[in-house]
Amino acid sequence: MSPRLEASLGDITMEAVDAIVNAANPDLASGSGVCGAIFAAAGPELVGACAALGGTSTGAAVATPGFALPARWIVHAVGPVWHGGNHGEPELLASAYRRSLEVAAEVGAVSVAFPAISTGIYGYPLEPATAIAVATCRAGPPEIELVRFVCFDDRTLAAYDGALAEP
Ligand code: APR
Repeated sequence: MSPRLEASLGDITMEAVDAIVNAANPDLASGSGVCGAIFAAAGPELVGACAALGGTSTGAAVATPGFALPARWIVHAVGPVWHGGNHGEPELLASAYRRSLEVAAEVGAVSVAFPAISTGIYGYPLEPATAIAVATCRAGPPEIELVRFVCFDDRTLAAYDGALAEP
């Protein structure tokens, strides 16, 4: 069965789901944006847990505990930097979503919250990014029951609402 998909405004660090996804960088270092907010809210143990993993690659995802977060797990997914769209960006963004759900299922999560990966500092245009997020999560692994797209602003929520309304 496909996961139930929903979008809402909010701060992903507050989400009481099994796993939240971090819009990470390949070094798994604390950045700004949603990544900085997650590192700040999870507490100092997250830095060591990420360092122990030794980094990851664009399109991939890895899990750590959520530490001080309400969520039990953090799935660190690396989306592509937007370079105009002809450098594999759509495939890499789809891979970041697909691998996030697979990794979440591997750790036993059934509910997962995503930020709008790559649409901030990495510059991916919002509408195509949300279309990819929705299409990829609709085809998610059967273990995942709920996917929530947590939007930090109205513009992002409107883009997800539009993508979710597509058949
Ligand atoms: N909850 C939910 N969404 C948030 C939050 C939050 N607390 N804070 C920011 N966002 C939103 C942004 O508004 C944007 O819509 O997350 C989306 C992704 O933006 P970025 O955090 O800039 O992520 P990304 O574009 O993938 O860039 C990743 O930024 O922070 C660094 O380490 C990170 O180098 C990596 C890069």
